[in-house]
Amino acid sequence: MADELLSVEDLHVEFERGDSKVYAVNGASFSVGPGETLGIVGESGSGKSVSVLSVMGLLRGSGQVTGGTAMFMGKDLLKLRRRQLEDIRGRDIGMIFQDPMSSLNPTMRIGDQIMEGMLSHQYTSRKGAFNRTLQLLDEVGIPEGKARFRSYPHEFSGGMRQRVMIAMAVACEPQLLIADEPTTALDVTVQTQILVLLRQLQLKGRMGIILITHDFGVATNVCDRIIVMYAGKVMESAPLVDFLARPAHPYTVGLKGSVIEVGTKAHQLRAIPGMATALTEPPRACPFAERCQLAADRCLEELPPLRPLGLGHYVACHRAEEVLAAAGTTVGAQVGGPVGGQVGGQVGGQVAQGVTARA
Ligand SMILES: Nc1ncnc2c1ncn2[C@@H]1O[C@H](COP(=O)(O)OP(=O)(O)OP(=O)(O)O)[C@@H](O)[C@H]1O
Ligand code: SF4
Ligand SMILES: [Mg+2]
Repeated sequence: MADELLSVEDLHVEFERGDSKVYAVNGASFSVGPGETLGIVGESGSGKSVSVLSVMGLLRGSGQVTGGTAMFMGKDLLKLRRRQLEDIRGRDIGMIFQDPMSSLNPTMRIGDQIMEGMLSHQYTSRKGAFNRTLQLLDEVGIPEGKARFRSYPHEFSGGMRQRVMIAMAVACEPQLLIADEPTTALDVTVQTQILVLLRQLQLKGRMGIILITHDFGVATNVCDRIIVMYAGKVMESAPLVDFLARPAHPYTVGLKGSVIEVGTKAHQLRAIPGMATALTEPPRACPFAERCQLAADRCLEELPPLRPLGLGHYVACHRAEEVLAAAGTTVGAQVGGPVGGQVGGQVGGQVAQGVTARA
C-alpha cells in the first residue's frame, strides 16, 4: 500500500547446509506504516529474524534472498548495493538485535558507540552528536549521562545495555525501528519499562516499529497488528483486535494458550505438541499439517495461500472458516477476558470437537 513505510512481498530466503538447503523464509509478506507497531510472533526457527535480517542486507553465512521485494521509501531494499543499504541502516532504519552483548563493542565506551552512528551518517557535528548522546541517555532512562558516557558495556546491567542499544538505534531518528526480541533477556519490570520507552520514542516521531517476540503478552500489549510465522511463512496476519477476538489459524489458536498480563510467565507462547523442523524442501503442502489436529487430505496436498478474511485479517489455512465457526464466540470471550486460560486447548478441544479432524 502507498502509505506503508516498509512493504515486504513474497520474500524467499535459503541457506546452504552441506549438500542440502534450508528453506528459511518461504514467501513471507508483511508491511508496517508510520506510527504503527507490527508484531512478528512464532516459535524458534520460524524465520522471524531471517526475514528482517535479509531485508536489511544482514544475512550471515550462506544465506541468500531468492525472491521477493522489500519496498522502503520507494526503493526495493533487496536490489540496493551494499553501500546504499549501509546508508539506510542506522539512519532511516534502526535495528535492535536479538543479542545486545554481541552488538555492543566491549572495548569501546558507551557514549562513543552511541555517537558513532550519528557521525558515520553525518547526522550532526561531533559536538551535536555529543549533546544528543547525553540527551538520548537521559531519554532512555540512564541517569548521570556525562559520567555514564565513559562506561564500558560490561559495567552495565542487561536492562541498561538494552537501553543503550535503543539509544543507538534511534539516534538518527529513523523512520522505522526493527526490534528483535528487545526484552526477552530482561526481568519483567525492566521489560515493561523498555516497552513503554519504545512507545514514547515512537509517539515523538511517528516511527514505525517491527517488534519480534516470543511473547504474546508483549505483542498484545504494544502491537497494532500481529503476524504469526511458521516454517518461514505467514500463517495469520490481523489487526490486534481481530487477532484477539477471532484467531482463525489452528497454529495461532494453539500458541495462544495463555496471553496478556505482562508480568507473568503465563504469557509465553504455549507449547504445541510436535516440533517445528527446518524445511529442506520448499513447502508444497501445509507446513503445519503434521502438528495440526485438523489436518485433512487437502492440507497434505495443497499449500494454503494467505487469503483475506475481511477487515484486514489474512490467514493461510484451508479450514479457517471452520475454525472460526467452531470456536464461535468462545475463543473471543476467553481471549477478551483475563486469559491465561486454555484457548490453546481448543485446538484439540472445542475447535476439534466442532470440526471433524481428518475430514
Ligand atoms: N546463518 C545461518 N545458517 C544456516 N541456517 C540458518 C542461519 N540463520 C538462520 N538459519 C535457519 O533459518 C531458519 C530461521 O531462523 P531464524 O533465526 O529466522 O528463526 P527465528 O524465528 O528468529 O527463531 P528464534 O525465535 O530462535 O530467534 C532456522 O531453520 C535456522 O536454523
Ligand atoms: S487445517 Fe489444514 S491447512 Fe489449516 S493449519 Fe491445519 S493442516 Fe494446515
Ligand atoms: Mg530470532
